[in-house]
Amino acid sequence: MATMNRRQVLGLLGAGGIGALAGGGTVAIGTQAAAQSEVPPETDELAYPFEGAHQAGIITPAQDRIHFAAFTVDPEATRDDLIDLLERWTHACRRLVLGAELSARGAFGGGENFPPEDSGEASDLGPSGLTVTFGFGRTLFDDRFGLAEHMPADFTDIPVMSNDFIDPDRSDGDLCIQACANDPQVASHAIRNLTRMAIGTAVLKWSQIGFGRTSSTSESQKTPRNLFGQKDGTSNLKAEESELLDEHVWISDEQAQDWAIGGTYLTARRITMTIEVWDTLQLEEQERVLGREKFHGAPLTGTDEFDEPDFSATTERGLPVIDERAHVRRVHPDNNDGIQMLRRGYNFIDGNDAQGRLNAGLFFIAFTKTPARFAQVHSSMARDDMFVEYLKTTNSGVYLVPPGVGTEDYVGQTLFEA
Ligand code: HEM
Repeated sequence: MATMNRRQVLGLLGAGGIGALAGGGTVAIGTQAAAQSEVPPETDELAYPFEGAHQAGIITPAQDRIHFAAFTVDPEATRDDLIDLLERWTHACRRLVLGAELSARGAFGGGENFPPEDSGEASDLGPSGLTVTFGFGRTLFDDRFGLAEHMPADFTDIPVMSNDFIDPDRSDGDLCIQACANDPQVASHAIRNLTRMAIGTAVLKWSQIGFGRTSSTSESQKTPRNLFGQKDGTSNLKAEESELLDEHVWISDEQAQDWAIGGTYLTARRITMTIEVWDTLQLEEQERVLGREKFHGAPLTGTDEFDEPDFSATTERGLPVIDERAHVRRVHPDNNDGIQMLRRGYNFIDGNDAQGRLNAGLFFIAFTKTPARFAQVHSSMARDDMFVEYLKTTNSGVYLVPPGVGTEDYVGQTLFEA
């Protein structure tokens, strides 16, 4: 994934605006962008281009923060309204990822007599590595917009799992947007303003804010820890593994619907974790449940974080060193027909309950070639994993993430032109 630093972005803005970056000259940055060249140097300088063969925010090195949102398209909205919204969202995102305001008039340049087009709270924060990733829910392919015949046959739902306590009012949705950035205000600014742009066409159905990535998606990143204190993301698929990504993540030409090639499926699961119960477990038990030791993250059969687990190893008493019901065994490709996934989840703490327990957990996001592949691994986990005792899934959604956009396209264009 190509990146630009802040100086390169500003250099390009000075040399002719976003058009130079997008290669198409389709978007002009007005005076507000010029004002943004005054951004203080201590802001995050990282910027990822919006365009590419695949959407950004999938193999992009996972940023620190997420604001995820799912939308319901208004019952009165037409196919043209939907296309118009996707065009306007695309146009805005091309600017937002550069640290610019969402339109040329932006937060301060629209005149005294109008509400500002951009809410303004990210105006001094720079791009902060923002990526905005769009997905389509299964319901978008009903008969409202003439898309039914273009729904891929493998776009199936995730079946109910044994530890599911799903709130249907805060799950699924016609559209989803995943905004990730290193500054929480930049991610939330994107969702807030894209939501506002949708007024009259789509409304926010549910959303989730997360912090502290729980996965590495690039070999350049250190493995982070989740709220159980475990290193999380060790054996995740990484951006550098392009052959494995082709095999496990990107929708390919064997999968019926050509418009979706280069896309992927995003599954989002808000999983609450019983933090207070977990914290009473002895360290040895915490490690047995996962199958890895906690400090280095090494499998219980190894010494280094990146050692391969040996599921055949036994103790002197003939018991498996990695328990039959340990998480890493249940979800490992060896026990799931070789299935791998790209995980890109985040921690969350949404306050606490009346008993003083944290309402906390992992907003789990995975990208797979089909939802069924994710479901197979999840079923294996839900059936037997010791982890399940400490987890509860409260919200869920599966979305088809269309392929990336070119400099002249809008996101999802291949679907509407199929
Ligand atoms: C709150 C819920 C969860 C927590 C705290 C959690 C935690 C972890 C940890 C600490 C690891 C070991 C380090 C690593 O390789 O990343 C791991 C591995 C993994 N987890 Fe989870 N996990 C959760 C839910 C899930 C779910 C829902 C799935 C998918 C159905 C899943 C799939 C995987 C996979 C595929 C691996 C890598 C296994 C391997 O190749 O060794 N996890 N998880």
